[in-house]
Amino acid sequence: MKRTVCLIPGDGIGPEVTGAARRVIDAAGAELEWLELPAGAGAIETHGDILPEPTIAAIELHRLALKGPLTTPIGKGFKSINVALRKRFNLYAAVRPVRSLAGVKTRYEGVELVVVRENTEGLYSGIEHEVVPGVVESLKIATRVGCERIARFAFRYAKERGRARVTVFHKANIMKMSDGLFLECARKVHEEIGAGIEYQELIVDNGCMQLVRDPTRFDILLMENLYGDLISDLCAGLVGGLGVVPGANIGDDCAIFEAVHGSAPDIAGKNVANPLAVLVSRVMMLNHIGENAAGQRIKAAYDAVLTAGDPATLTPDLGGRGTTTAFTDAILARL
Ligand code: NAI
Repeated sequence: MKRTVCLIPGDGIGPEVTGAARRVIDAAGAELEWLELPAGAGAIETHGDILPEPTIAAIELHRLALKGPLTTPIGKGFKSINVALRKRFNLYAAVRPVRSLAGVKTRYEGVELVVVRENTEGLYSGIEHEVVPGVVESLKIATRVGCERIARFAFRYAKERGRARVTVFHKANIMKMSDGLFLECARKVHEEIGAGIEYQELIVDNGCMQLVRDPTRFDILLMENLYGDLISDLCAGLVGGLGVVPGANIGDDCAIFEAVHGSAPDIAGKNVANPLAVLVSRVMMLNHIGENAAGQRIKAAYDAVLTAGDPATLTPDLGGRGTTTAFTDAILARL
């Protein structure tokens, strides 16, 4: 039976890059049924709601989705739908593998790390209010349940993939209680299930400096929500930018796959966005549901295109002059 995947094209470059990735996945012969669903700024115009009820109901039923980026207004307007989806389906683990890619020239070689970000708590709880005019308060939430759950995820992930080390980024020197709890839980879980895996702690500002000096010394990075958001983009910059880093939001019984990047309004509609981050997120999804053969074929095809390095096919963020369509066609030709 074909597995149904909910597909949210998203805003900005979303439809361009999700459309490109869908062409590749269909051609790779994965046994999938697509169910296209609205969400985001575009859905307000068509459905009068940023996150229409039928979209929620479909994800509730099928428990698997691919999501394009969704625009969130800055400083005003509606709250982030990304955050809402993560909370609604309890997608507590954001997983962002950051790898050096063959043919993509950067300052570093041999980067092979994974950011594991707590996805439902921290400052992203969105609990803010004005105490008195001119003073606002924003709450950072940390629960023992949430901190232990993400630590367990990180150590299990490390074990299953034969990874050597988990490093926690924190700021428990200042946020002694919230980040202190995060550390306490990580240490406990390491003791319980982390045999054979090295455990390290680094204050997040030092962690940033160490990352840009030598990212190859890191393996699995575990952190709370806000640090994970920032560090994911920093790490994307180490291996070629936001156009190449995939991501997954995973819960116990539901998963939504999406690139780390946003809707990139500066290049939307120009057919120059790099579809690779979205495509690799799809490969993560194929592996997640056991369609490993199709995932392997796609990986071999994009690796070949990157290694060939033809500027006419690579998108501008990779130093080429190609379009989204040209890059996608080149991958299709190698499948
Ligand atoms: P962004 O990731 O959309 O763009 C940052 C920079 O990276 C831009 O210069 C953009 O052109 C470039 N870029 C991003 N993706 C690219 C791709 N595939 N190929 C080539 N270049 C690419 O971040 P920004 O500008 O901070 O956010 C724009 C909107 O996206 C905001 O509304 C934000 O809230 C939303 N956003 C949504 C996310 C999601 O849906 N998961 C994640 C991050 C941001």
